[in-house]
Amino acid sequence: MPKSSRSKIHSLSKPFQGYRTRKGRYWIASIEDWLESRYARELNGNVNLIVTSPPFPLSRKKSYGNLNGSAYLDWLRRLAPKLRQLLADDGSLVIEIGNAWNPGEPTMSTLPMEALLAVRDSGDLNLCQEFICHNPARLPSPVQYVNVERSRIKDSWTRVWWLSPSKHPKADNRNILVPYSKAMRDLLKRQSYNAGHRPSEHVIGEKSFLRDNGGAIPASCLLQETLDHFGSVVVAGNTKSGGDPYLEYCRRKGIKAHPARMQEALARFFVSFLTDPDDLVLDPFGGSNTTGRIAEDLRRRWAVVEINHNNLIPSKQRFVTSRKRRR
Ligand SMILES: C[S@@+](CC[C@H](N)C(=O)[O-])C[C@H]1O[C@@H](n2cnc3c(N)ncnc32)[C@H](O)[C@@H]1O
Repeated sequence: MPKSSRSKIHSLSKPFQGYRTRKGRYWIASIEDWLESRYARELNGNVNLIVTSPPFPLSRKKSYGNLNGSAYLDWLRRLAPKLRQLLADDGSLVIEIGNAWNPGEPTMSTLPMEALLAVRDSGDLNLCQEFICHNPARLPSPVQYVNVERSRIKDSWTRVWWLSPSKHPKADNRNILVPYSKAMRDLLKRQSYNAGHRPSEHVIGEKSFLRDNGGAIPASCLLQETLDHFGSVVVAGNTKSGGDPYLEYCRRKGIKAHPARMQEALARFFVSFLTDPDDLVLDPFGGSNTTGRIAEDLRRRWAVVEINHNNLIPSKQRFVTSRKRRR
């Protein structure tokens, strides 16, 4: 790493508070150091949700720093029990990991799956549910095989695991209902449908689908059309170019926006699903602070830890009101 960028990565063992808002704090520290601090100890057993996308196990190093292979797994194995300690008994850990490819060949790595298993097992956590998050805005990758050789297709999704110390963590899918399909709306109007035996061997009761519950329960494959209900399309696809204070700031200052921001809609989906107002949400790999912004919007308390000092000022812009920005 060149000297200039090394100096921007936090190297002191003492975490420092980058900024705070009404609901949360953004810490500059490595998560390893932060977990040893009194700030982490104060939160033991009190965090309702950890939602995060850790540095991915890429075959190629990115500017924000990634370990690879067994070193990556060992690192996650050491972290998982410490993160678990922070969780409330009915709390949840939601972890998003993208796909990875084996270096120099058109085959997929199983490292992301091994990583998730490592977190589950070393954290002694239950896998409550697996989600697939579709992101059609992702660039074609790996370019050599998708664009040049044309022998693979575009990789367009990430895997999201919802884990918990409890088999029955706090969760309420009524907080994440999506609008009914036209077919369902028609059915509710008609008040009749084809009840009875289905080829799947399910038996559908006469009245099973006649009650309007205010919306449909989303499917675990989080398609863009589902995520759109939790943020506009452009925001969810991370391609928003106007009106986003974070991106506006980066553009104005000629700074590269964070290369691996979490889809805002994804954070909103899980914070709404798994927490109540005033609950505490933590992101140990906070980056541009998508998590803090969403938590603040939803009136949850939050704590975010990020190792790279360069993310501090840009991420703070997420909390600057448009009136102040215009000044
Ligand atoms: C995949 S990005 C997360 C992006 C974030 N969710 C967002 O929406 O901007 C991972 C982040 O973890 C940070 N990171 C890497 N190693 C870390 C560590 N040991 N402690 C804390 N943060 C770390 C990286 O600097 C990077 O910003």
